[in-house]
Amino acid sequence: MNKVSNELDIMGHWQRTHNCGTLNEDDVGTKVILMGWVLRRRDHGGLIFVDLRDRYGVTQVVFNPERESEAHRKAENLRSEYVIAVLGVVSPRPDGMTNPDLITGKIEVFVDELRVLNKSLTPPFAIDEREGEEVGEDVRLKYRYLDLRRETLKENIIQRSLVTKKIRDFFYEEGYLEIETPFLTKSTPEGARDYLVPSRVNPGHFYALPQSPQLFKQILMVSGYDRYFQIVHCFRDEDLRADRQPEFTQIDVEMSFITRDVLFDVMERMMAEIFRFAMDIEIPRPFPRLTYTEAIHRYGLDRPDTRFGMELVDLTELLGNSEARIFSDTVAGGGRIKGINVKGGEGLSRKELDDLADYVSVYGAKGLAWFKYSEEGWKSPLAKFIGNDVKSDISRLASFEPGDLLLVIAGESALVNESLGQLRIHLGDRLSLIPEGRYDFLWVIDFPLFEYDEEDGRYYSVHHPFTAPLEEDLDLLHQEPGKVRARAYDMVLNGSEIGGGSIRIHQESVQRRVFELLTIGPEEAREKFGFLLDALQYGAPPHGGIAFGLDRIMMILSGAGSIRDVIPFPKTQKAACLMTEAPNPVESDQLLELGLKLRK
Ligand code: AMO
Repeated sequence: MNKVSNELDIMGHWQRTHNCGTLNEDDVGTKVILMGWVLRRRDHGGLIFVDLRDRYGVTQVVFNPERESEAHRKAENLRSEYVIAVLGVVSPRPDGMTNPDLITGKIEVFVDELRVLNKSLTPPFAIDEREGEEVGEDVRLKYRYLDLRRETLKENIIQRSLVTKKIRDFFYEEGYLEIETPFLTKSTPEGARDYLVPSRVNPGHFYALPQSPQLFKQILMVSGYDRYFQIVHCFRDEDLRADRQPEFTQIDVEMSFITRDVLFDVMERMMAEIFRFAMDIEIPRPFPRLTYTEAIHRYGLDRPDTRFGMELVDLTELLGNSEARIFSDTVAGGGRIKGINVKGGEGLSRKELDDLADYVSVYGAKGLAWFKYSEEGWKSPLAKFIGNDVKSDISRLASFEPGDLLLVIAGESALVNESLGQLRIHLGDRLSLIPEGRYDFLWVIDFPLFEYDEEDGRYYSVHHPFTAPLEEDLDLLHQEPGKVRARAYDMVLNGSEIGGGSIRIHQESVQRRVFELLTIGPEEAREKFGFLLDALQYGAPPHGGIAFGLDRIMMILSGAGSIRDVIPFPKTQKAACLMTEAPNPVESDQLLELGLKLRK
């Protein structure tokens, strides 16, 4: 046999009899063949121990020079991550040498024959996480195939697969059809930029990768498919954050002839199923509902984390009349003043307060006023401007008591809510106010349909342009579009928006009106969404749906600190894949063929 065929035939007639995670006391005496990677090799008084690893677990295999000297000799050269096959006999581990944490912890395999299936370079980081090595994320991403061998990531990926199956099963059992929609398509606006793909056969024409399957799932409802779901990749060219990826996975759902309550019930049951399966937790249903207005009022954000209190208190009236210029000027300018009471926070240092002011400045807050309530009374550079009556009113309103710290932001209403809402989350985390192991689900409902952008002087959709207005607000569509509420909803879990959807517009006339308000003129509407406007005229049923971020759900289920830890091949903050080095420049021939020319 020449060398190459010998290398190809290295497994000979051997077939794996077991994986590395199953053998136990019942198998003692059995002859087995195991295959896997060398996690660790230890030499002990002539015996060589190897922890053999595959995705199922770890089994200890032992080479004894007296039993089989050839195998022992070869084992001396084994290094971490070599791929080997061993043939041997299962034996009980000696007393005192067992490991109760492992399924295979009571046995070991005495090896009669060893085959080295492949060697490995020394990995740039230890695969065994018990070594506690700190590994930079860039290195982990570059060598993703090695990172994926490590326990934490492996567990996350396996859990993701199992949860995905559970979700599929759920929908199939409920009578949903899983239907694929195209990736090479037309722009589907979800508020981000599109990834474009040039068409070779139609020079100068581009496909857009879908930001979501929104339009196709609505078309499927027009076609009568009634109950649709898909676990699907979506593409969004947007600024990345800890819980965002340019390419991510949605659990996408659409239903016909439903009310919002029907949809909520289905989705709550799906979540309950996932949590029962993955966490062994029974989540209480129905989930609480909070209107958008109330969420902003109480928590400053439209995805409130309700696991802890410290709700926002409106102090506009009380402080607006004070002699403190920053407060009176704010109110004169039509702004608002709101605060949060940090219970027991009186001891925070000046430096810590300055840091908090820096934190909120990122959200545009001009400053952060503070009041400490000590045994001697209120302490603050602004305290002298606040009358005693007002102080006692504030104390009552905010439950502000000795030992507490009141943090106050004044300014334009949206800015005050956003910055104080973010500060609340930041403090909840910093002061460990968030209880472990708690999962707070809620629906945020009745979002505004549009938001007005002062700079651009026009309205934008808060959700997307296909969301229906609330029936009772339909008239406002013509008079005061800014006041129209949408039939949109988000599912929020522990302060993270895990899903969002809406009841859709199914009447062509309403869809046209909404396009108009979004300054999408008839021609543009036809060019971009003509197929939808046409389809809506051929018997479109009332319909609605939702999409969940599977990655975000998995992040919460596995307690991962980053969305990248639940995605096998994620991208960096700069939307790059460090392993494949995508994106990369292309050959000029390829550009030519596509009819493209790069600007210098
Ligand atoms: P939406 O834009 O709210 O709705 O997206 C639905 C859910 O997808 C997740 N998500 C993301 N996850 C990771 N990285 C991203 N860049 C990212 N962007 C969104 C979030 C979000 O709640 N077509 C509508 C749904 C519908 O109306 O049915 C849509 O896509 O968890």
